[in-house]
Amino acid sequence: MTLLAPAPTVGRLLAEGAALLESQGLPAARQEAEWLLAAALGIDRFRLYLEPGRAVSGEIVRGFRRQVERRARHEPLQHIVGFEEFRGLRLKTSPAALIPRPETELLVLWALELALRHGPWAIAVDVGTGTGAIACALAAAAPDLEVVAVERSAGALALAGTNIAALGLGGRVRLVAGDLLEPLGGLINAVDLVVANPPYIPTGDLPGLPAEVRDWEPRQALDGGPDGMDVHRRLVPQAARLLRPGGWLLMEMGERQAEELGRVMVAASFEEIGVRRDLRGVERMIGGRKGP
Ligand SMILES: C[S@@+](CC[C@H](N)C(=O)[O-])C[C@H]1O[C@@H](n2cnc3c(N)ncnc32)[C@H](O)[C@@H]1O
Repeated sequence: MTLLAPAPTVGRLLAEGAALLESQGLPAARQEAEWLLAAALGIDRFRLYLEPGRAVSGEIVRGFRRQVERRARHEPLQHIVGFEEFRGLRLKTSPAALIPRPETELLVLWALELALRHGPWAIAVDVGTGTGAIACALAAAAPDLEVVAVERSAGALALAGTNIAALGLGGRVRLVAGDLLEPLGGLINAVDLVVANPPYIPTGDLPGLPAEVRDWEPRQALDGGPDGMDVHRRLVPQAARLLRPGGWLLMEMGERQAEELGRVMVAASFEEIGVRRDLRGVERMIGGRKGP
């Protein structure tokens, strides 16, 4: 007679997964094990707390263990579960585009505050849209806004297209392939908002990034040139041409880039230049208004 081993429980699998992830130096090991098990079971994460003694069947156990091993090799959690939440929107992620970050939600929030104060706005441009995060969040929050989302990576464009369609925003978010604002020559002096999260890591800092970023995020989403500001410097004068007088440019940036980017914006005749910090207190965003 063969005695079958009892199916492992939710509680045991979580402890096992968390231990492996912790042994690989992942600081949020327990929470990440929970996300992976919840995804494998197809349930919300909080339900795991309600049924720690639930027995988990063989196929799900094998799938969960495979996913924990992927995470232990520092593949980002979002690629394993397949999505990230951005301002309440579920966005598909893949190695073709940067995983949207919480600090970028603050950039969208800034844009929406300005739209309330200075709007109504008709046309916004999201430069380097990646997954489509900023463009989709703006369109979802501002039902009268048309958003043009520019991107030069074919892989990111395809991913953004999938996200825009899945969120039902295809009628108001238009994807354009190309380099910064160059494809939008027909919109000179017509745009209310240009928003961008450009690559801003200095090239020399790339090797020191955490493995999740260095090995999994596309280099063209990270590498901002020798001091991290190459793309911003090209973008600012292009944005000044596209924006109507009184229109706004908002950009995410790296640490210690505010002073130089402020100068670049003043030289391109931006006014009311302001800087905002992220949740860690780091100066993370710069914005200004095109002068008359
Ligand atoms: C830091 S990622 C931001 C992605 C997304 N906007 C977000 O916030 O999650 C920068 C994006 O800009 C794109 N990009 C870089 N240089 C570009 C250029 N010259 N023209 C258009 N897109 C560019 C990259 O491919 C990448 O998708």
